[in-house]
Parts: sequence; structure tokens; C-alpha cells
Amino acid sequence: MCENTQTTAKKKVLSCIQPSGMLTLGNYLGALKNWVYMQEDFDCTFAVADLHAITVRQEPAKLRQQIYSTFATLLALGLDPEKSTLFIQSHVPEHAALSWLLSCYTQFGELSRMTQFKDKSAKHADNINVGLFSYPTLMAADILLYKPDLVPVGADQKQHLEIARDIAIRFNNLYGDVFTVPEPYIPKTVSRVRSLQDPSKKMSKSDENANSWVAILDDKDTIIRKFKRAVTDSDSVVRVGDDKPGITNLISIYSGVTGKSFEEIEREFDGKGYGEFKLAVGEAVADELAPIKANYDRIITDKKQLEELYKKGAAIAEKTAAKTYFKAMKKVGFVL
Ligand code: TYM
Repeated sequence: MCENTQTTAKKKVLSCIQPSGMLTLGNYLGALKNWVYMQEDFDCTFAVADLHAITVRQEPAKLRQQIYSTFATLLALGLDPEKSTLFIQSHVPEHAALSWLLSCYTQFGELSRMTQFKDKSAKHADNINVGLFSYPTLMAADILLYKPDLVPVGADQKQHLEIARDIAIRFNNLYGDVFTVPEPYIPKTVSRVRSLQDPSKKMSKSDENANSWVAILDDKDTIIRKFKRAVTDSDSVVRVGDDKPGITNLISIYSGVTGKSFEEIEREFDGKGYGEFKLAVGEAVADELAPIKANYDRIITDKKQLEELYKKGAAIAEKTAAKTYFKAMKKVGFVL
């Protein structure tokens, strides 16, 4: 008798990260930690989004270093090139090419509403370039080329993902089934890690106050010091609440690292002070990040291996990307 060899195809996952400086605990809990889990059950593609980084001015040598170090961090996290496709965005030219195509199916008004564009143009008023404005069409291209079902990101990228979905639907309505309309995959408890110094803002590496953010590659002492200095509130009860944004942020970080629910955490620290709680959060974060740093320190020294891996990843990614790009071009009417 024939065995049933039918297997269900794995769902596809795509996500990217910018190589803009040190990666933070926000990147880790909002996105990267999920990437590592997802590679076990999904067909995953992850990229270093270097083309996105030049929407703000970059120093060439520093940018090059950051691209290497971001790629090395992905490996250090445990992303495995045998299981997932890992590459550098600019190595696959279809990203920029599809972005142009999609920009002709994106409205000026839609892009004008993007919060990140408004924030970044306020911050870099001397360089409000066209790339900064059309950034979401490049991000849509990154996504749509690989036809993913799911896109794991933090809450700050939700608006960009929605526009990618709108563009895909619009294009499909005109030309038939070209793109898959992807779903966002956003963590429930830590979708927005906030600044340790000002919880009204998201944790970001571009924050001038270095105490406001934790780098994935910070050492244990630095991490604990930053958590000890984290802002809290006037009472000393460890509980979640709109009136307690600092403590709520720390609780969600602790939950993201330990997997404990908010209720469990409130019970664990019932009757204990902020000092004890902040130390526990710092230690839990430091313990989780320590092996990643150790891996990174080893991986970053082997440039030859890094090069081999990102070239291999780009060759695999390009096969899929070229197919989708070709199909989209053909549908629009180009001679191929
Ligand atoms: P980027 O490089 O700013 O951040 C990478 C990922 O980290 C998440 N993240 C956070 N999550 C929670 N709390 C925070 N404080 C925090 N800071 C960052 C982001 O949501 C993101 O998931 N445009 C994207 C990169 C990109 C992309 C793509 C993502 C380019 N093409 C295609 C998905 C699909 C960005 O700038 O992320």
C-alpha cells in the first residue's frame, strides 16, 4: 500500500532589518526573537535592509561595517543559513527594480500619511529626500518579491505593512494574482519596547541618551546599570497600568525575555520594591543576550565565512525574487 507522502507546504515568512548602528533590545524582542523561533516551522527569508539605510546620510566606511555587523548578528542570534535564506538586500537588484514599478501604483497621499516619514523629516529637516518619502514602496518590494504569508515585525512597522498589503491588492486587482497579500506577525506582549529613560518614546538606537536603550551586544554590567537607571513612577508597586508607563515597559520586557505572563510577574514581585525588580529584569536580559554576544565576537572575526554565507543567501533569494519580478513586469506589459 502506498504511504501518504503528501506534505503541507510550509508557510512563508519574510522580514528585514536596517543596518543602522547597534541593534537594540527593541529589535530583539519586537522582531528578531520571533525570527529565530519561526525558522523552525516556516520557510523563512531574512535580509539586512541596507538600501533603506541611506535615506539618512551615512558615512561609507561606517555603513559597510554596520552591514557586516548586522549580518553577523543575525547569525549570532541562531539564524541558520541551512534553514533560512539570509542575505543583504542590495545584492538582489530586483528589490530596487520592483520598488520603481510599485511606486507607480502608490499614491502620493498614501505616502504623505506615513508616521515614520513625518517623524524622520522633522528630525532630518535638512535632508528630506525622495528616498525617505518613497521608503514604503521599497519595503513593499522587499516583502512582495518573496510572496510571504507572514511578516514578523514590531508595532512601529505595522503602517508600512498595511501599505504593502494595499499595493499588493491594488496590483492584483488590475493584473490578476501576482502578489501574496501578507499578514503582519507582531508579538502580543512586547510589540513596542519603550525607551528606558522616556517611556513615551520607542526604544531606538538613534536616541542620544545611551541609557535609554540596550544594545543586543552590550555586556552584562552595562545592561544591569541601564536597567537600574530606568525611570519608574512614584509608588513602588510592580503592576501594569496606563498610569505606570515605566514599570509597564519593564514588565513587558521581562515578559518578553522570560515568557512569563504579566499576572505571573505581578505576583512574583508582590511586596517587593522597584530596586529588586529592576535588577531582576537587568539580569534576565543580560543572561539572554550573553550567548548572542559570545557568538557574535567569534563570527565577526571570520570575514571570509561571512562573505560566503551572504553570497550564497543572495543567490537563493534572487531566484525567487527574479521570478516574481518577471511576472509583475510581464503583466504590466513590458517586453521581456
Ligand atoms: P528597523 O530596522 O527599524 O527594525 C527592525 C525590526 O525591529 C523592530 N523594532 C522594534 N520592535 C519593538 N520595539 C522597538 N522599540 C523596536 N524597534 C525596532 C521593527 O518593528 C522591525 O521589525 N523598515 C524596517 C526594515 C524593513 C522591513 C522590510 C521589515 C525593510 N524592509 C520588509 C519587514 C519587511 C525598519 O526600519 O525596521
